[in-house]
Parts: sequence; C-alpha cells; structure tokens
Amino acid sequence: MTSNNTNFLLGLTTGIALCSAAFTVYAATVINNVVKDNNNFQTITATAAISSTAINDSTPSPETLERLSSMFAINSDKLNQIVRHFVSEMKKGLNSDKSGLLMIPSHVVNLPNGKEHGSFLALDLGGTNFRVCEVLLDGHSGARVRQSKHTVTDEQKALPGDQLFDFFAQCVTNFLIEGLASPITNPLAEIAKRHWRLGFTFSFATNQVAIAEGYLILWNKGFSNSGVIGANVVQLLEAALKRAGLASITVTALVNDTTGTLVSHAYVQPSTRVGVILGTGTNCAYVEKIENITKYKNVDPNVKEMLVNTEWGAFDDEQVIVPRNKYDVNVDRSMNGMGKYTFEKLISGMYLGEIVRFVLVDLVKTGEIFSAGASPELKMPHSFETAFMSRIERDHTLDLSDTRTVLENMLKISRTTLADRRLVKSLCELVGKRSARLSAAGIAAVVTKMNKLDGCTVGIDGSLFELYPHYSNRMRDALREILGLSAEYIVLEQARDGSGQGAALIAALAEK
Ligand code: BGC
Repeated sequence: MTSNNTNFLLGLTTGIALCSAAFTVYAATVINNVVKDNNNFQTITATAAISSTAINDSTPSPETLERLSSMFAINSDKLNQIVRHFVSEMKKGLNSDKSGLLMIPSHVVNLPNGKEHGSFLALDLGGTNFRVCEVLLDGHSGARVRQSKHTVTDEQKALPGDQLFDFFAQCVTNFLIEGLASPITNPLAEIAKRHWRLGFTFSFATNQVAIAEGYLILWNKGFSNSGVIGANVVQLLEAALKRAGLASITVTALVNDTTGTLVSHAYVQPSTRVGVILGTGTNCAYVEKIENITKYKNVDPNVKEMLVNTEWGAFDDEQVIVPRNKYDVNVDRSMNGMGKYTFEKLISGMYLGEIVRFVLVDLVKTGEIFSAGASPELKMPHSFETAFMSRIERDHTLDLSDTRTVLENMLKISRTTLADRRLVKSLCELVGKRSARLSAAGIAAVVTKMNKLDGCTVGIDGSLFELYPHYSNRMRDALREILGLSAEYIVLEQARDGSGQGAALIAALAEK
C-alpha cells in the first residue's frame, strides 16, 4: 500500500514537472512563428494551424475534438433509422438473395438440450488463428476440450487454396499423433483405426446448401487464397485430409462461428436465441421461423425453426443509411474487397486501429497533433493495432503514461504532449464507441425482427466484447436508447468457444 502511494505521488509530481517543461517549449515555438509572421504569409497560415493544435500542452483543441466527434458520433435518431433499415434488409434477405444481408440458412434446425455426448474433432478457421480441437461432450451440458492453436500468417493467407488446406491437414495430423497414448511406430495406421466425426468452423461468407456442404462466396479478413471462392470447402478439407492419410475423418458439419456460438451458449443457457461475434470480424446468427425463410425450399414439414447466418458485415454495402467519413472510405479502399463488408469495417477488430491510424496521419498533416511529425512506423499500414486502442482506453494515469508508451516506444513518435495523448485517447473512444453502438443497433434489429423484445439471451464471443474496455456497457447504453425499457430484457452474455465446442455440438446435432 505504502509503496503504491509513493509511486502514485512520484507519478504526479513527475507529471507536473513534465507538463510545465513541455509548456515552455510550446510557448517558444509560437513566439518564433509570430516573429516570422511579419514577413511571410505562409508562415502565418502555418502558425494558425499550429496554434489550433491545443489550448496548451495538456488540453487538445476543442475544435479538433468537435470535428472528430461529428465524424464518428452516431446519435439515437440515426441508430433508430439504422435499425429500421436493418430489419427491412433482413426480410429482403430471407426472401431472396437480393439484399446486402445474405441471411444464409445454416441447416441447423435444433438447439442442444444438454444431453449431447460423444467425442468430436472440431477445426476452427477464424481470422487470425487456426485451431484443432478434440471436444468431449459429457451429456450434462459440460465439455472437455484439448486443442492446438496455430497463427495463420499473411503469407499463408495468400497461398493457393490447396496448400492452405494441406497446412490444416498437417496440423490435424500432428494433433492426433500428440494425442496417442504412447509413441507408436505407425501412428497414422493407429489413427485410421478410429472413425472420427468432425465439425468444421469456417468463419467466412459461405453459401451453405446442406449441413456439410458450403461454397465460399468471398474471402475477407485478409485472406485471398486462390481456388477457394465458389468451391465446396468441405470437399477441399476432406481432399486435404485424404492426401495426409487421414481418410477416416468425416466432416459431418460445416459451421459458421456465429451459429457455433449460438449453439454452444444455448448448451449452457437455454434462453439463447442469438449468437454474435465481435472479434477480428463481426457477424450474427439467430433462430428464425422456417416459414419466414421464404427463399428456402425443400422444407421438411417437421422442421419449425432454423438458425440463419445474417453475415451482417455486409449490411448497407449500398451505403444508404450508415454514416461514413473519409477515414472509413480510406480504410475500405486500402483493404482487399473494396466496397464489401463495409459495416464490418466500421465495427471489427481488424479495422478499428487502422481507422485511428488514418485519422492520426491526417492530424499530423494539419498540424493538430505530434509537433515532431509522424514516425515511419505510424505511416505503415496496420501499425496501429486495435489492441493499442484497448490499452489507451484503459489508461487512467494522470499523464496518460501507458498511452505515451504506445505512442513513443511502440510507434516511435519522438515526443508527445499530454494534449496529444488526450486527443489520441478521445479518438480511440470515438472509434470504439461507434463500433459498440453499431453492433448494438444490429442486435436491436435482430431481436425486433424475431419479436423477442420480451426477452432473450444473446451469446457474444470475440476479443472486442471480451477485452475492449467499456465495450459491453456502451452496447447496453445504445440498446437502451433504441429499445427503451425492453432493452432490460435483452441479456448480453459472454459466450465461450463457440467455434470449438459449438462445432462439436452441431456435428452431434447433425446425427440426431
Ligand atoms: C465473416 C463471417 C464471420 C465473421 C466473424 C466475417 O468476416 O464473413 O462469416 O462470422 O467474420 O468471424
């Protein structure tokens, strides 16, 4: 306790000393410019820009803050308009494929009752990692999971498709060999003695025509492997497993991470009707009455409901309702899939840091931040990670010292003032808050469409919801603004491992 107090006081006095030193430097700069002003109009303009940088070294310019806020803030009226448009796009998407919302029937027609049991393999390709899991469902709403996790590098995201799937098969081989009780001379023969059922979580827009058949519509989240778009990804996986000598594995379910999340959360919380991912990418699945999915033919008369994968990342790609600013446009243009998944590009972890970076580079140009200029690191695409935003938003020190570490040590900006750091923090708040409010608008639309305003649980997985400070509170605030009192009946809950356990459960349900 005593040592904490000492540290706190030390921080405080150091902060005051640093602030006053920085202020002296700032004042000197302005005086210099004023002297030059007498002779040179261009310098006057520059001075005007610099003097609007900050009121002093610790307070960012209110004009700058206001301008940024007007670019990123989304008020309640706008949220309500978005919700109305979202609901009408959902209806269109359920009718035909002529809506930005793909509304893909998942072919999952049951939710678990907790009694599912057995051992399943699950593969999970999300945005950043590939996982191999063995999931043991115990029949009492419980599961045990053994897993291996592998980063998918940028190089692997650009390999020919077959090679990407060979990499997956290699990971599965290693995983199964590691799982053998003792070293064996011919491990593949040992593995082949058993028939394995596998759920494949493939978290990309896929036209799912059966529980274990789906054709990739488009890549996103940085993937561009050739030969996969338009192909049945289950077939690609099974072919790769066969090449690796793993023909005893059958892919019995193809799963989106949102349907996996919904199902795995329903295993522990039966009131769950919606599954959401807020991570590298974003998306939502929910339970829809089969009669409302009018584009879905071949209806089995016993089927009453089906999970629908909305692919909400592509909502409003026609750009008619969600406000977008020049930085959003820059991010969209700089990534592959320009004009596609534009809603996701405002919300998910893959893009938020890049939006902040574009704004910062612009603020440096206008002289509103970092008088020492932008570092080569800051100019590098994707150098400002969304994790930095989390860290900055969590920084409650008086002099924003952790923000300084991010900016000066990690992004190599040579000198920052407290005003700079406060401006960066406010910017992160604006971008992070907009993301939370837009995802809340999506959830409000989905529960409105489902007629579930009297109550349901939304299982949410992904690093933004789990780790980004204030994210869930901001979502709840927005839900209250949109739904009023009904928001209290919509429970947002952290879901865990929908992509592993959920895939196993869906594989188990597929056998029912
Ligand atoms: C994909 C979705 C996925 C979401 C979350 C999006 O980019 O298109 O299928 O559910 O990311 O992982």
